[in-house]
Amino acid sequence: MHPLQCVLQVQRSLGWGPLASVSWLSLRMCRAHSSLSSTTCPSPERQEDGAPKDFSSRLAAGPTFQHFLKSASAPQEKLSSEVEDPPPYLTMDELLGRQRKVYLETYGCQMNVNDTEIAWSILQKSGYLRTSNLQEADVILLVTCSIREKAEQTIWNRLHQLKALKTRRPRSRVPLRIGILGCMAERLKEEILNREKMVDVLAGPDAYRDLPRLLAIAESGQQAANVLLSLDETYADVMPVQTSPSATSAFVSIMRGCDNMCSYCIVPFTRGRERSRPVASILEEVKKLSEQVIRPPWPSKVLGLQGLKEVTLLGQNVNSFRDNSEVQFNNAVSTNLSRGFTTNYKAKQGGLRFAHLLDQVSRVDPEMRIRFTSPHPKDFPDEVLQLIHERDNICKQIHLPAQSGSSRVLEAMRRGYSREAYVELVHHIRESIPGVSLSSDFIAGFCGETEEDHVQTVSLLREVQYNMGFLFAYSMRQKTRAYHRLKDDVPEEVKLRRLEELITVFREEATKANQISVGCTQLVLVEGPSKRSATDLCGRNDGNLKVIFPDAEMEDVNNPGLRVRAQPGDYVLVKITSASSQTLRGHVLCRTTLKDSSENC
Ligand code: 5AD
Ligand code: SF4
Repeated sequence: MHPLQCVLQVQRSLGWGPLASVSWLSLRMCRAHSSLSSTTCPSPERQEDGAPKDFSSRLAAGPTFQHFLKSASAPQEKLSSEVEDPPPYLTMDELLGRQRKVYLETYGCQMNVNDTEIAWSILQKSGYLRTSNLQEADVILLVTCSIREKAEQTIWNRLHQLKALKTRRPRSRVPLRIGILGCMAERLKEEILNREKMVDVLAGPDAYRDLPRLLAIAESGQQAANVLLSLDETYADVMPVQTSPSATSAFVSIMRGCDNMCSYCIVPFTRGRERSRPVASILEEVKKLSEQVIRPPWPSKVLGLQGLKEVTLLGQNVNSFRDNSEVQFNNAVSTNLSRGFTTNYKAKQGGLRFAHLLDQVSRVDPEMRIRFTSPHPKDFPDEVLQLIHERDNICKQIHLPAQSGSSRVLEAMRRGYSREAYVELVHHIRESIPGVSLSSDFIAGFCGETEEDHVQTVSLLREVQYNMGFLFAYSMRQKTRAYHRLKDDVPEEVKLRRLEELITVFREEATKANQISVGCTQLVLVEGPSKRSATDLCGRNDGNLKVIFPDAEMEDVNNPGLRVRAQPGDYVLVKITSASSQTLRGHVLCRTTLKDSSENC
């Protein structure tokens, strides 16, 4: 029997819940098991004289029940600079990375990019080194996504390639260890270890602090897993190592998890309950970023520019933010939702809300653009809209995932709004924030979607005319409400045909929406050279659309007479000359600052 199987069986026979801290259990049980059959455990513990220790002395030396409870409870009081005390069954040397080289690969959304940075920050403090060369790696970690079947299939295919790498590895090198991190580890748990025997480590989205311990166990040739979800883990004290190549902008995680339980979505099951990071720790990170020196990634006379110029606040439901870490006098105040919207959960009260956080974050540095993603349309009360309108450095860009244009489908999806309420919100947002840029997510072919429902979605795309869109074919996910209660009855080819139609209509409408910018002067934050042409530069406008323009000399409005060329992190005014569904083109007028800029249209 595989050691992990033996653990799972013991767990079940003891009536324990889900796979909690399997690594701890696997080690302990594996050792117990080894006294029965030493062949099942790769490295049975031995006394110094080489003789196997007897069962009771090994059990006594193992972790206590208190240790288990401690590791299962919230660990975030620890300072990030502290290296954890080794658990009784590991030495400090085993826990510190022995300079092993880690290769990290990220799949899925921006939350996963941020999680990669958190995982790396934790491993770096434990003595691991990072490599961007797969062949050089001692440890390969995949940060995975489960949102659609296709995303998981990509990971399985990658695992097959990595299996070959592991088998071909020369014996002269330390064995290659492979880890699955994030949503797929959480969703499939031990199924991954059973299906792919060459996976050594599993860590769910709330278990990254445990990575050094899990990897130390893997070093001894055993599989190790921690897929425990937490009610309060926000990694508030872990400063992610920002690795964005543009170096002009950064992502700051402000909340994790989701309580909405839309009927099609796996996220609440893989990322757990909603919890927000304390405002003070978010502000501290944003302040650090605003003071960080940017080094242009292309050859340049400029050695370093002061301060990152853009921060995107990140969360699964970013505008449902609620910091309850401090007691407030208005704790009984209930939450304002967008008009006509409801929640699937009992109304929450009190705490510091998104409007407060946005206000505070936008005051850190008036030259720093603030964005946020991904919001839910239910959490746009007037105070948030007003603030976006008033504050110059909060971008006038709102992602408003609709998912469908049919009220019937929206109800089946449990989105908490009708088409009419959504459209009313769009009008209200456009009145409150003139010129706002809107984007959305849509799912084609959800359970029971008829041709008439699909036509309604097409008409919503035409009515709203989004500037950006993210469109998907429905992919049924186990565990979700739709999996249990509804039928995935739209044939695959119909889903794909409807998706194609949505994409075509979205592109037509986005082209029209973006063409309104032609002839306007827009403020663009420069990112670097354009990928397509060495003579062009690329940046983003306030609406987050890509703007391409020739790299030319221009005037600096703050230094009259000085001719300059744009650097990453500069704000420049660009006159827009053409537009497509995804890009704007123009020519640069001058270098400026965010507060001095005067866009006109
Ligand atoms: N199938 C297809 N798309 C999905 N999304 C979430 N779950 C599914 C699913 N099961 C889409 C939604 C969401 C975006 C992040 O992914 O549109 O907003
Ligand atoms: Fe999924 Fe809905 Fe939560 Fe978004 S709001 S993560 S779609 S359950």
